[in-house]
Amino acid sequence: MERLEIISPDDWHLHLRDGAMLKAVAPVSAAHFSRAIVMPNLVPPVVTGDDARRYRERVLAALPEGSTFEPLMTLYLTEDSDPDDIETAAKSGLIKAVKLYPAGATTNSQSGVQNFDKVRGIFERMAEIGLPLCIHGEIADNDIDIFDREAEFIEHVLDPVRQTNPELRIIMEHVTTSQGIDYVKSAETGLAATLTTHHLVINRNHILAGGIRPHYYCLPIAKRESHRLALRAAATSGDPRFFLGTDSAPHIDTAKQSSCGCAGCFTALNSMNILAQVFEEEQALDNLEAFTSLNGPQFYRLPANQTRLSLVKQKEPVGFPTNIPTDGGPVTVFDPGFPVFWTVEAT
Ligand code: NCD
Ligand code: ZN
Repeated sequence: MERLEIISPDDWHLHLRDGAMLKAVAPVSAAHFSRAIVMPNLVPPVVTGDDARRYRERVLAALPEGSTFEPLMTLYLTEDSDPDDIETAAKSGLIKAVKLYPAGATTNSQSGVQNFDKVRGIFERMAEIGLPLCIHGEIADNDIDIFDREAEFIEHVLDPVRQTNPELRIIMEHVTTSQGIDYVKSAETGLAATLTTHHLVINRNHILAGGIRPHYYCLPIAKRESHRLALRAAATSGDPRFFLGTDSAPHIDTAKQSSCGCAGCFTALNSMNILAQVFEEEQALDNLEAFTSLNGPQFYRLPANQTRLSLVKQKEPVGFPTNIPTDGGPVTVFDPGFPVFWTVEAT
């Protein structure tokens, strides 16, 4: 038996939703993760400090008795967002980041930013107060091929934003391409990236070859194998610019298995198990703690967790439930498609 003890992990990109779904998935994340950056793309979105305060209360109410899980709140950036409200929410400690969705890029992003000139003042204020910006880095333009949207975004949006606001600290979220990895590596300071569990595991063949598999459909969409390999190399390298953001994004099965299925993989339940397997395969178990527990807090300028978590390698593959029940219907759990031998013990 092999045992690996690490500082408790955080999830730097998580969708907890609201209502019945929140009640079902919050305990799942809290079982393995100490903190999470909670995405604000509810309907309607979490735009103001007051929205975030109320949403935080609902998240806390959905946690099991005695849970110490800490939701790190974010605000959804709109062209009408108020820089004073953002500053107040940041200075009170309520929010840890602002999230930028290009309008139309993904689930519930209708209220996102279309004209980047309109949020220039907000970027300046955020740079001034040291509040990081989380970016969904895809061009939302139907003329751009879905597999090219991340690379195009880097060139046409992200790089210009960084040139204009060199002091703004940016997290390029759920990077899915080698261009994204190279771009993050090219920056000395002020830029980091989250990587999801599922993008280390699947490429676009998993979604599309031999039948269409809606539970592997997420945004940004998984790319070809060479990109997956670049993501794995970055995640397992120990490079402090890369850390875990699962982007666990639950949708009920009927919303996924539809003629127009929603984007999102529900990975909160088995991410840590799968990551241990991936890092073992890459002979990089020594770097797992950096990826899940150290690099994120360092970039967000927060202390690492005090608690620890153990990963234990079993003789037989571990079974995961196919789905979890919610009051709205079942949510399918991400299937990595290979045997996973690692279990998790929170200590
Ligand atoms: C997310 C969701 O469902 O809210 N979906 C996804 O595929 N990742 C939105 C997002 O983060 O893009
Ligand atoms: Zn997301």
